[in-house]
Amino acid sequence: MILAIGADHAGVELKEKIKAYLTEKNYEVKDFGTHDTSSVDYPDIAKKVCTSVVNKEADLAILICGTGIGMSICANKINGIRCCACSDTYSARLTRMHNDANTLAIGARVIGEELAKDIVDAFLGAEFEGGKHQRRVDMINALEIR
Ligand code: RB5
Repeated sequence: MILAIGADHAGVELKEKIKAYLTEKNYEVKDFGTHDTSSVDYPDIAKKVCTSVVNKEADLAILICGTGIGMSICANKINGIRCCACSDTYSARLTRMHNDANTLAIGARVIGEELAKDIVDAFLGAEFEGGKHQRRVDMINALEIR
């Protein structure tokens, strides 16, 4: 599985930790920055990361900013992206199982490193259930302005 990851200045430290964690687990991780704590605009990072998912250069994506909210708002404006900002493992698992989310957003100023790792594990370890949920995902897709 190929993962895309990106963060703004508020999320870069956690990004580096999550990236190392995932690399250790043998995931291929494509890092779209940022690479230091200089201030950057999270929409630019979200666009790069999500474009890699839409173009099928990555299977799933992880976005990190201060709250996870700005990144998730940006991600969900991109056709083909279903992103959930998660601060708990249940939501992270269920957003894969029911919403077929392909992008996870995390708030580095909201949760700590170990919970973030658990949330990432929950997200990556779950699978879309399909069935009635597929119909609803199709309805989400129909909401996109093409
Ligand atoms: C940056 O200060 C902060 O606004 C950003 O990381 C994020 O929390 C936005 O939603």
